[in-house]
Amino acid sequence: MQAQKLLTRNPRAELYYDLVELLTGVTLVGFLWTHMIFVATILLGKQTFNTLSQFLDDYYLSYVGIPFIILVFVTHILAAGRRLPTRYQEQKIIWRHARMLKGTDTWIWVFQVITGAAIFALGSIHMWMVITGWPIRAMTSADRMHSFWWFYLVLLLLGEYHAGFGIYRQFVKWGWFPRKPLGYVTKMITAVILALGLAALWVMYELGGAV
Ligand code: HEM
Repeated sequence: MQAQKLLTRNPRAELYYDLVELLTGVTLVGFLWTHMIFVATILLGKQTFNTLSQFLDDYYLSYVGIPFIILVFVTHILAAGRRLPTRYQEQKIIWRHARMLKGTDTWIWVFQVITGAAIFALGSIHMWMVITGWPIRAMTSADRMHSFWWFYLVLLLLGEYHAGFGIYRQFVKWGWFPRKPLGYVTKMITAVILALGLAALWVMYELGGAV
């Protein structure tokens, strides 16, 4: 069945799918890292966070950017999701192969699939909460992050894993950068963004608890 699926694939269509997966993936990583820095402005105080959010509204960057990111988010899931082993039998085979091969790249791919599926669910809930709680302001964000801190912590870890390894795998796959330095750079950026995210989560948690 799996072999049949592989043999009947149209190589040109596969290339277009790969390019869509790459472009939407890189766009989402750029968005995620930028949006983390935006959330981390809470470390500079409520006023700075609110001024930035007001600026994004006043210049329509949020009203144009959010629908664009949702479109890219859905397109990425459709392009990357075509390789998802949907049937339990297929999943079992892939898991068994991964254990047999013990290759780091195989396991990175398996966890890319698992984290991707989880981000699809949690990311959608998160975007729904932010959009229905409009506008974005420090105290409404702090309230959400205080009540649901565990949700944001899980989303932060999943998101940074998926973004970091996603961009590493894509750049290696297309042969744009040598593996080793690329590994160092993506790990370093991921560590900085994770530290910022955890610090912002802590400050927001304290702020939300002070109400
Ligand atoms: C339209 C897209 C998005 C918007 C407008 C947005 C906006 C926000 C805002 C305002 C916050 C602060 C907390 C809150 O108010 O709930 C936040 C936090 C967060 N967002 Fe998003 N977000 C978007 C998409 C995503 C996606 C796709 C992810 C997927 C990984 C994500 C991951 C996170 C994480 C992990 C935090 C917590 C940050 C921290 O720990 O400091 N967001 N986002």
